[in-house]
Amino acid sequence: MSVLLRTSSLAKRFGGLAAVDDVSFDVERGEIFAIIGPNGAGKTTLLNLISGLLAPTAGSVVLDGRDLTGLSTAERCHLGLGRAFQVVQPFPEMTVRENVLVGAMFGKPGIGRGEAERRADEALAHVGLGLRADDDAEDLTLMEEKRLEIARALATRPTVLLLDEVMAGLRPAEARATVALIKRLRETGLTIVFIEHVMPVVRDLADRVLVMNYGKVLTSGSYAEVTQDARVIEAYLGSDQEEATA
Ligand SMILES: Nc1ncnc2c1ncn2[C@@H]1O[C@H](COP(=O)(O)OP(=O)(O)O)[C@@H](O)[C@H]1O
Ligand SMILES: [Mg+2]
Repeated sequence: MSVLLRTSSLAKRFGGLAAVDDVSFDVERGEIFAIIGPNGAGKTTLLNLISGLLAPTAGSVVLDGRDLTGLSTAERCHLGLGRAFQVVQPFPEMTVRENVLVGAMFGKPGIGRGEAERRADEALAHVGLGLRADDDAEDLTLMEEKRLEIARALATRPTVLLLDEVMAGLRPAEARATVALIKRLRETGLTIVFIEHVMPVVRDLADRVLVMNYGKVLTSGSYAEVTQDARVIEAYLGSDQEEATA
């Protein structure tokens, strides 16, 4: 195993609030790595720092040995960082395929329309949306919207896929199907970093779990290790435990 993604003392302040505070961790190549923590812990902000949507107050992100400091989201995407957002915002007036095409063309500079379409169709097939390709994005169900969001990221041909709460709002059967999808994606060689509130999903998917609280790393380890950690139990009891264990 080798380190593919590394954050070193990453920090982000919003005025007086330390949303992300001295966060360091490594993700190994081929790993499924979960980030958990109560609401407001800084998980989404951390992904924003990794994908380049936000500039850090301090610290660095290194992908495959390359320091990403100062690079735009597009440049990071070209280097292999794919991102699916917590709040899904497809272009409603475009078809499903056109939505993914946007991802394919954003992903790699200078690829032709034909190649972009090929990558878009491949991504849609991967997430099981092939039959919906020509439908308007606004007609998708929530689960299909989440899959479209994953397909948009996949079409950029990432080496690391960053997922932010892709299970939120899904029914149990839909969540199980999405767990199976993420396992299939890992089989293709993808490294996956995901934020998740649904603990059974974390248990089923994660090789390792990073627990955040108040912007800091509370602990990290296997699912069994972190869920037996008294500090983790207390952090959840103090806030949204019911949601976290739903
Ligand atoms: N753009 C922003 N400006 C000010 N505060 C923010 C901003 N984004 C997030 N925060 C604050 O940073 C903290 C961490 O937020 P977030 O990363 O969204 O947490 P999580 O994803 O773990 O729920 C919260 O207190 C949130 O209100
Ligand atoms: Mg969040």
